[in-house]
Amino acid sequence: MPSYRIAVLGGDGIGPEVTDQAIRVVDAAAKLDAASFEWDRLPWNSARYLKEGRVMPEDGFDRLRTYDAILLGAIGWPGVPDHVTLHGLLLPLRRKFDLYVNLRPAYLFDGVQSPLRDKKPGSIDILVYRENTEGEYAPLGGRHYEGTPHEIALQVSLFTRRGCERIMRAAFEGARKRRKKVTSITKSNALGFGMVLWDETFRAVARDYPDVEAHSLLVDAAAMDFVRRPESFDVVVASNLFGDILTDLSAIVTGSVGLAPSGNINPERRFPSVFEPVHGSAPDIAGKGIANPLAAILSAGMMLDHLGCPQAARALRQAVADVLKAGQVRTPDLGGQATTVQMTEAVLQALPL
Ligand code: IPM
Ligand code: MN
Repeated sequence: MPSYRIAVLGGDGIGPEVTDQAIRVVDAAAKLDAASFEWDRLPWNSARYLKEGRVMPEDGFDRLRTYDAILLGAIGWPGVPDHVTLHGLLLPLRRKFDLYVNLRPAYLFDGVQSPLRDKKPGSIDILVYRENTEGEYAPLGGRHYEGTPHEIALQVSLFTRRGCERIMRAAFEGARKRRKKVTSITKSNALGFGMVLWDETFRAVARDYPDVEAHSLLVDAAAMDFVRRPESFDVVVASNLFGDILTDLSAIVTGSVGLAPSGNINPERRFPSVFEPVHGSAPDIAGKGIANPLAAILSAGMMLDHLGCPQAARALRQAVADVLKAGQVRTPDLGGQATTVQMTEAVLQALPL
């Protein structure tokens, strides 16, 4: 019987609430692949930073390396500057474990209301491949003349041919399993170095995939089209920052950021991949037990796929789709009054066990 060891970084706010529910669903669904899971909950969060001055222990990355995968809730809490918590864990983790694919599906489920008019279930079905290790998030730059009126800050974007090429190849491979269309997000009209290299690399990679339609779209036009005609997108490949922004947009046009999952993936499997909801720690509803657990549950479903539990993954997704379609149990973000636990229990009941 395959057995997996998972590190659980619940993090802050609603993070631990929703990851606990995702664990219940995985434990149940895993039976379909005769798999079992061992969960290690690691309390590396803002509270730990306030007590000990660090989000995670010094040997944190070495410990995380030993797991098969990592399930993350959300990190960040008022009172600790976001850049401190995020540079203490999530952002270095993405780079150190070479999690260069940030995979973010956005799907309009039956039974969920899009804020866009007249959108049919399934008509929005976008898979974003966000570059996750370099680009605008490269930790390069610095400040000078600090505290003076002529203080300067340099924030340097880093685009490498290898970095562009590998995320683009991943996107084309993904598109072959879908509707065979890739849209590359650019801004080479204004950003004449990094984004020009991005475009050149895209054209070169596209030549290796003549069976896949390849388009290039400026990011501002893409923001318009995510709203105006989201059904025109299949696979989207974007740099780190553009992918970040567009996936909040793709999440909201499919009904709720409470439904949007993601995987930070190292395709070569040299390191454990990290699965997390797109949403944050939501301090305004933390502790109330009303957070939507579905983004965390769907993220855990992506983890099941990655680990090689396809039947459990498929059943989990189908159970979520069935619960949304039935529309009986909904958390407040979806217009209902159900609690986090009630929503999870509806999913558990919908599993074919
Ligand atoms: C995300 C988040 C992070 C990011 C933040 C919390 C640093 O918004 O995963 O999309 O920008 O990557
Ligand atoms: Mn984001």
